[in-house]
Amino acid sequence: MEQVTQPKSRIKSHALRAKLMPADAAAELITPGSTVGMSGFTGSGYPKAVPQALARRMEQATAAGQNFRLRVWTGASTGPELDGALARANGIEFRLPYNSDPIAREKINRGEMEYFDMHLSQVAPMAWQGFLGPLDTALVEVSGITADGALIPSSSVGNNKTWLDRAEKIILEVNSWQNPALDGMHDIYYGTALPPNRVPIPLVRPDDRIGETYFRCDPAKIVAIVETAAPDRNLPFAAPDDCALRIAGHLIEFFRHEVAKGRLPAALLPLQSGVGNIANAVLSGLLDAPFENMTAYTEVIQDGMLDLLRCGKLRMASATSFSLSPDAAAAMNADMAAFRHKMILRTQEISNHPELIRRLGCLAMNGLIEADIYGNVNSTHVMGSRIQNGIGGSGDFARNAFISIFMTPSTARNGAISAIVPQASHVDHITQDVQVIVTEQGLADLRGLSPKQRAEVIIGNCAHPDYRPGLRDYYRRARAGAYGQQSPCLPGEALSWHQRFMETGSMRA
Ligand code: COA
Repeated sequence: MEQVTQPKSRIKSHALRAKLMPADAAAELITPGSTVGMSGFTGSGYPKAVPQALARRMEQATAAGQNFRLRVWTGASTGPELDGALARANGIEFRLPYNSDPIAREKINRGEMEYFDMHLSQVAPMAWQGFLGPLDTALVEVSGITADGALIPSSSVGNNKTWLDRAEKIILEVNSWQNPALDGMHDIYYGTALPPNRVPIPLVRPDDRIGETYFRCDPAKIVAIVETAAPDRNLPFAAPDDCALRIAGHLIEFFRHEVAKGRLPAALLPLQSGVGNIANAVLSGLLDAPFENMTAYTEVIQDGMLDLLRCGKLRMASATSFSLSPDAAAAMNADMAAFRHKMILRTQEISNHPELIRRLGCLAMNGLIEADIYGNVNSTHVMGSRIQNGIGGSGDFARNAFISIFMTPSTARNGAISAIVPQASHVDHITQDVQVIVTEQGLADLRGLSPKQRAEVIIGNCAHPDYRPGLRDYYRRARAGAYGQQSPCLPGEALSWHQRFMETGSMRA
């Protein structure tokens, strides 16, 4: 979002203004080895000044032959000033949940950082269950503080409610770059509990408001407040290429067919759209599709959703975060009145809640790294061992959606890798959680199909023509020689395509 000049401080509470200090002084309050719960979800709403001050301390410690590392919990991925800076300073001992920072990814894959990749809906409950250990500090960006000390959330909500509740002490960054119109857009639900005290969550439509607009916060726990004015750093989306457009086209044709058959309403069901360029291309494709009055119940509001909101095809969007390119963020800022009442940001515990996804009947659309011929999906690991990002919310949505859709180009690395393989080298979504696979080649509707029927459709509709003969050959031999005929496989050979890639740089025979 573009810079908004603020003549007055965003901190309206006199008592809390007394806790203002520079970022370096606030960073001094965090002790080596401690656990810090940070705000941030995609490149939105993460603290920007204190993490960089921490990184400077970490580098000084290293230069002095000492060790300064932290256990870091977040909402999901963050920005280069947080994950990038701390990882570069070798300052993250352990991290959860989703990460997409390239420096942190490298550290994880070199075995220099422990990474707990978990379902995003489960982070807050697991923190409350105590399995993750105590939380020493919450470091949270907010967009303002009211006169009575309530915290106005920022451009993402993530796990902030839980961090503020659980932490022993709190450091706030109050960011005046964030649009003041964020005030009132959030819905912070305080009704979750642990078993046996859980009750139904009273949300039955994506636009229901069930909580409060501000975070509650015990002022006695706030030890420092830092004022910032730095922008969120989300990446721009690539213009949809031919492959993304073809994937979007297949998917929209599928939706039209489902509406014609009476299996989906004319306004579809609440959309969940995953991360990345293809998901954004599908949203753009919906601009010209014949569906009106759509809703979104999803994790992130991205560029394509803004266009749909602007033209009225999307009635409203519920999420936990914005994930807007710099241009889209500026456009939203300039036209906030058009969007202001059409968007709700919630905690990720609620945006990704299995009960709500199942009740609303979301249409889940997520990316994948590879799928096997039976429809098991790998969203996270390259060649079985190297993490790309993490499972994010894809598991929350895939298992509980009305229709669980995965989409990908049929090949990667300029055709050297087939996204459809004999056996996935790692499985995040088992075949029962995968109902539709789409590539630029076509769409496989797997609902109601046995494993062998699935294999025929996936190879025939989704695999790249260059790889179909190899897949058919494998499948034919598996049918002839497998131990059983439910999901025929040849264990000694199933991962040979991956082996070949690692030896020759290509899966081609
Ligand atoms: N084998 C090896 N590498 C592969 C691959 C495959 N089958 N498919 C993709 N890759 C590599 C690409 O080459 C690229 O590598 P690079 O970064 O070195 O260039 C990288 O994986 C990302 O691929 P890209 O085509 O840019 O994918 P994307 O941006 O569409 O993201 C996922 C795809 C699966 C990584 C992404 O959707 C993701 O992280 N998903 C899990 C979380 C999720 O679904 N979140 C949303 C839930 S709400």
